Amino acid sequence: MQTNDSAYNPLDDIDRVLVDEATIKARLKELGEEINQAYEGRELAVIGIINGAIIFVADLIRELRIPIQLDSVRVQSYFDESKPVQTPEIIDKIRLDIQGIDVLVIDDILDSGVTLTRVTEIFRAMGPASLKTCVLLDKKTTRSVDFEADFVGFRIPDEFVVGYGLDFAERYRQLPCIGTLRPELQNPPEWS
Ligand code: IMP
Ligand code: MG
Repeated sequence: MQTNDSAYNPLDDIDRVLVDEATIKARLKELGEEINQAYEGRELAVIGIINGAIIFVADLIRELRIPIQLDSVRVQSYFDESKPVQTPEIIDKIRLDIQGIDVLVIDDILDSGVTLTRVTEIFRAMGPASLKTCVLLDKKTTRSVDFEADFVGFRIPDEFVVGYGLDFAERYRQLPCIGTLRPELQNPPEWS
């Protein structure tokens, strides 16, 4: 991969497209409608988990016809040797006061469920009127904790995917579609 090559196209690094651009667009309209109906007549605080949810949140909120307030959090997982799993913590807190407000937390993908379990636990302690979650992708087969999202874009098989906000070593977030990386790019030594 040559990043200084003017012919560079991140799409060339994709092995197989799982969800194409048109399918994402169409599903976002439906998802937006589901959310509009669920919160009709109410105001919603939308909290995106960055970086992964940046693209999804940006497109999804433009399908919403309810009043919203937008904020985001950054989450990082720390290894704790005393625990069998990583404990994700919020490292950049929200500015909104969500007490008594309907909150929708948005992430790119639900995998083990550890991230959203921890994040919703933290927000629930802030006393929102309600707290729901929305993910673009749901990897159903890989859950290590019992967690389900309230709104789901697509259910996908247990494969590592990039694009439309999802990264590999912070790359490929700009891809308009979601797909798997070519096998020889899945562990390039210079990126580790
Ligand atoms: P969980 O805590 O295992 O549910 O992890 C969710 C987070 O893991 C997501 O927000 C992503 O940052 C990351 N993740 C999980 N699966 C993938 C994938 O297939 N591609 C890119 N990132 C992923
Ligand atoms: Mg990530």
